[in-house]
Amino acid sequence: MKANLTKDWLALEMHAERLKAQHLRELFANDPERFQSLAFSLDDLLIDFSKEKIDSFALNALVQLAADAQVEARRDAMVQGEKINSTENRAVLHMALRDGIPAGVTVDGQDVLADVEAVRERFLEFAEAVRTGAYKTVSGQTFTDVVNIGIGGSDLGPVMVTASLAPWHDGPRLHFVSNVDGAHIVDTLTPLNPATTLVIVASKTFTTAETMLNFSTALAWLKLALGEQAGQHVAAVSTNLATTRTYGIDDTRVFGFWDWVGGRYSVWSAIGLPVAIALGKQAFTEFLAGAKAMDEHFRSAPLSSNLPVLFALIGIWRRNFLKYPTVALIPYDQHLARFPAYVQQLDMESNGKRVQLDGTPIQESTGAVIWGEPGTNAQHSFFQLIHQGSDVIPVDFLAAANPSSQSVFGDVQHHHETLLTNVLAQAQALAFGRNAEAVRADMQAAGLAAEQIEQLVPHRTFPGDRPSTSIIYRQLTPNTLGRLVALFEHKVFVQGVIWGVNSYDQWGVELGKKLATALAPALRERTVPADVDASTAGLLKHIHALRA
Ligand code: F6P
Repeated sequence: MKANLTKDWLALEMHAERLKAQHLRELFANDPERFQSLAFSLDDLLIDFSKEKIDSFALNALVQLAADAQVEARRDAMVQGEKINSTENRAVLHMALRDGIPAGVTVDGQDVLADVEAVRERFLEFAEAVRTGAYKTVSGQTFTDVVNIGIGGSDLGPVMVTASLAPWHDGPRLHFVSNVDGAHIVDTLTPLNPATTLVIVASKTFTTAETMLNFSTALAWLKLALGEQAGQHVAAVSTNLATTRTYGIDDTRVFGFWDWVGGRYSVWSAIGLPVAIALGKQAFTEFLAGAKAMDEHFRSAPLSSNLPVLFALIGIWRRNFLKYPTVALIPYDQHLARFPAYVQQLDMESNGKRVQLDGTPIQESTGAVIWGEPGTNAQHSFFQLIHQGSDVIPVDFLAAANPSSQSVFGDVQHHHETLLTNVLAQAQALAFGRNAEAVRADMQAAGLAAEQIEQLVPHRTFPGDRPSTSIIYRQLTPNTLGRLVALFEHKVFVQGVIWGVNSYDQWGVELGKKLATALAPALRERTVPADVDASTAGLLKHIHALRA
């Protein structure tokens, strides 16, 4: 931690000691205005922090920490295109992809917004051509299916956005292949017809082993059916245009982006091509507009009412002062089923770091482990542990006031009311619990025998005092999803600034790639390298013996 933050840190530790001693029940009883002072909104999007173990005094101290950590100056440096990704010497300008930065920003002499606009027009035009059938298969048909091949940021964003906006999906069917496990591509391609399938290969670097292998398999599949014309069923998205050419992919179907877009921040770029094909230009543009609205708020609102800043600070509070190592992200929104997986990469690849920008070790804990599943399903699997387990796990709930699916055969409103009652009830149960007296009274009213009651009381008691944040919005539209994703992106940025890490590199994924490459001959030739450790040698021998 930077020296100038020590005072803020010490003050926050004192607030934490004070607040740890007070149950959320007491905090609510002592302050009837708690919701008014701890819930914040931007239009219909409301974030309620009142069920966190926090009060206005501690929140103000957190805001002071953000101010002293120079969050605003770092944000402005990012927006102006400074190369804040110092270990890769790159600017960080994903906000430009949705016009969320002011005009005139340049990187290495290039006008960023002009470049963005030019590529966006091209890929949205291509998406419309695929949707309308203006761009046809080799036999003159309209494409029925699109297979996106990519991994990490070249997969999770399009997967999550298309799933989240399923009610807007009126284009060709979409399929995603990411895993190098052959099962993924074989299972995906087998039911498809290559004569009406478009393959998009998406890779920022165009060197990622999994993607390149999956692409060569998909190309072989296309060639088997279409021969030399197979290339007409391929499009590519990459920053590495020189390499896309070596694969013979026609430049008219290659869509670029820039090294100032991190993979996990790239869904707004041409990486969103499959989304645009599935949903169309209008929905995609509304998705961008939602993110831009959040960008504008993030750039202009004071720290004390800035949603991404406050959301980040609550995360810092949980992680560094209350010492909770994980966060459960639970969307009460089936369309957001892949949102936790998306946020896992966004957050954990960005802030899973242990050294500061200057290379010195960080003394404090950084990125929390993010995990989650949609509610109400989660209630019937791991919520037992969240309610009564020995560890406290803070929860971030997401819920829409209105459903985004309509139905002709059932009452979706009734489903939605049930969903909403559950999300509200879970946050209540976590915060307030149910003490022994109340549990005892319940069982007495139900007519249980005194002895049985005493046996069951400890098992049926809920400690409560378990924090959660609820994020509530009108409806999960393209605009809302854009705002939500940008909210999480900026939260990650602010936390990275406070921890002093580079949120935009990912060196931690490199070693495994290198070791896998080194082990490739051993698998191919069924040998055991002399210099390999005893465990890996043993495992290799076992695998060799088992392989057919
Ligand atoms: O290995 C991690 C990673 O580099 C991610 O950061 C990235 O999103 C993913 O791999 C895919 O990379 P690419 O788009 O270059 O294929």
